[in-house]
Amino acid sequence: MLNPKFSSWAENAVDPNLVRKREDTLNALQKPMKPLKLPGLVKSLKDMLILKPTDVEDLMEALDLVPQVDDFVAALAQTGFARKHVETASRRKAIRAVGTDLVSQLVLTGLMLRDDFQAPSEFVWTSFWQHAVSTGVVAHYLMQVVEGEFTPGKGWDDGKNKKLTSMVALNTLLGKGKVSAYLGGLIHDIGKPVMAEVAPYPYYAALRAAIDEQSSLYEMERRFLGIDHAELGQMWLSWNGINGTIQQAVAEHHDLNKKTSALASTVALANQLVKVYGMGYSGSPVVDQRNVWKTRSWTDLQAACRNPEITPELMEEHFVPLVGHLPLFEPLPRIGA
Ligand SMILES: [Fe+2]
Repeated sequence: MLNPKFSSWAENAVDPNLVRKREDTLNALQKPMKPLKLPGLVKSLKDMLILKPTDVEDLMEALDLVPQVDDFVAALAQTGFARKHVETASRRKAIRAVGTDLVSQLVLTGLMLRDDFQAPSEFVWTSFWQHAVSTGVVAHYLMQVVEGEFTPGKGWDDGKNKKLTSMVALNTLLGKGKVSAYLGGLIHDIGKPVMAEVAPYPYYAALRAAIDEQSSLYEMERRFLGIDHAELGQMWLSWNGINGTIQQAVAEHHDLNKKTSALASTVALANQLVKVYGMGYSGSPVVDQRNVWKTRSWTDLQAACRNPEITPELMEEHFVPLVGHLPLFEPLPRIGA
């Protein structure tokens, strides 16, 4: 995540004077010396929170606006997560295979990154957003497993014999409490760019120290900024009016052994699976939890889905390999950047 243009920083050891107290970090966020740019994302994130799946024809037009998303959807349609195997390069078929709900969110992501994301230039954000989008996509499909829509190794429920396998599925059917797992995955690490914007030098030190000491980035964040990105991300969302279960999922995405919501568990697991495969880079050199099937997040999700077919063995055999074959999203460079 460190911009090579600033690599001269790396020639020196980490400066211990870069350490900030928690209240200083929070102060820098609440009373910044110059206007912050990251709140530019808030409108798009709020739109994504209430987004209803768009119809296929509208999505076909929308994909013209964001060629990288078009390419990504075409590649996703070729993976084992697709609803139907797509032989041809038809955009319409690709949208149906990936699912209109996910494609709608991806289009908004592409537009948001193109138009609204202005990042501190000391860092490179491509691999960060690749990690974020990958986590969103995996969280989306994992939630489809929990909801009984998708059985790894078997495929998609065609809806004709649909049974309510869980309360989650019932809630979905009733349209209640449905928050996009994709969005949770996309923004789970939003506290990182927030930290980088309000305290670039201490944040640089945290990234460096995590690599030097091969330790978890959030522990180094606590050392250098007095707070970690999960907590700061939650605060940032709260201050910007994004509340509810999505905020909880951001706050608890490193707590894999805590009772929490299905959304938070899904995001936490997706994050670890994406890290194991090194899809994009989150800034942390260590995988916190390699055996995700032993975590409370997993056992709670497994209990929620009440489908006895969904076991760690089935997930290892038929879900995890699909994660490893996901394409990487290429965020658009900002015009003029
Ligand atoms: Fe994280």
